[in-house]
Amino acid sequence: MSIETRKPDNQLERFPVQDPGLEPHIERWTDADKSAGDRAYRQVLAMLGAVPVLAIAFVVIYFAVPRTAFVDIFGMQWDALTFLLGLTGGVATLLIGLACIHWAKTIMGDEEIAEDRHSAASSPEDREAFAAEFAKGAEQSGLGRRKLLGGALGGALGLIAVPAVVLFADLGPWPTAALRKETIERTIWAEGVKLVNDITQRPLRASDLEIGQLVNAQPETLWDHHGTHFQVEKAKASIIIVRMDPERIKIPESRVDWQVGGILCYSKICTHVGCPISLWEQQTHHLLCPCHQSTFDLSNSGVVVFGPAARSLPQLPITVDADGFLVARSDFTVPVGPSFFERDSNNDFVEGDR
Ligand code: FES
Repeated sequence: MSIETRKPDNQLERFPVQDPGLEPHIERWTDADKSAGDRAYRQVLAMLGAVPVLAIAFVVIYFAVPRTAFVDIFGMQWDALTFLLGLTGGVATLLIGLACIHWAKTIMGDEEIAEDRHSAASSPEDREAFAAEFAKGAEQSGLGRRKLLGGALGGALGLIAVPAVVLFADLGPWPTAALRKETIERTIWAEGVKLVNDITQRPLRASDLEIGQLVNAQPETLWDHHGTHFQVEKAKASIIIVRMDPERIKIPESRVDWQVGGILCYSKICTHVGCPISLWEQQTHHLLCPCHQSTFDLSNSGVVVFGPAARSLPQLPITVDADGFLVARSDFTVPVGPSFFERDSNNDFVEGDR
């Protein structure tokens, strides 16, 4: 099959829709009124001038506001440092955007120009014409007459980069063994801390769980923390509690007193790269991570039975207190969460441990 092409015979066939031409130019108020133009110029300068102040405030806040401080806004607690950094950084970025829009709408030239289509490749004449247009555009941008504007924009854009550089400090401090021991290698679980339901925040009793049930839980002391600390501690201390038939599970001798009548407690954080897990297969006692399908056998001390995770799911030793509430016997015995280079994995549970 061939497709025939035919060149148009005449102008009417080539351009069936008449070019309506340009609308008459309407002069802007800032062009018609010199004082209005000057006012717009000062407004743009004021917006750009505020950016360096906000950038410096950002840096000062970063170092001066304690990471434990939080602010109460409309009954919600916010981490003070994050709130203030977001406020100063956000307003500075907004001001640059508003200044550019205001500048474009009130100071830059606004003559309407029609340009006929041409072939994709530019001829040398076109390139020369472009260079001339570019120079004209630069002239019309007002930078020639209002030199301070260019300086203000350059200063604002230069200084707004400073907060971004300062944030690299968050890559530190260097994770020494002592620091790791106090941070990523410990959670707020401790002897006697009650296990509370993640949704109702009520302490749990052994009788609250039926065989086959899985409950997401937290330490009752979590709500003593606020702001970022609350999120950090929650991320590390989140657990799942499962109840299984004691006759159908393997409990190593070393962990006999870590469970209460078939109720076992594990970290909710996958040991691969840290996704929260709770896809629970009642019949097989397997817990599946939705991110990359690592599968842990909760009836066998959380060993990995499938997928990329290299470590068993850490188990939290639990018991019951005098009032019948489920409580932790201690913190986790190994670090929770994903593996990292410096961690000592020798203490993890492996198949065959007793
Ligand atoms: S994070 Fe769970 S398998 Fe990757």
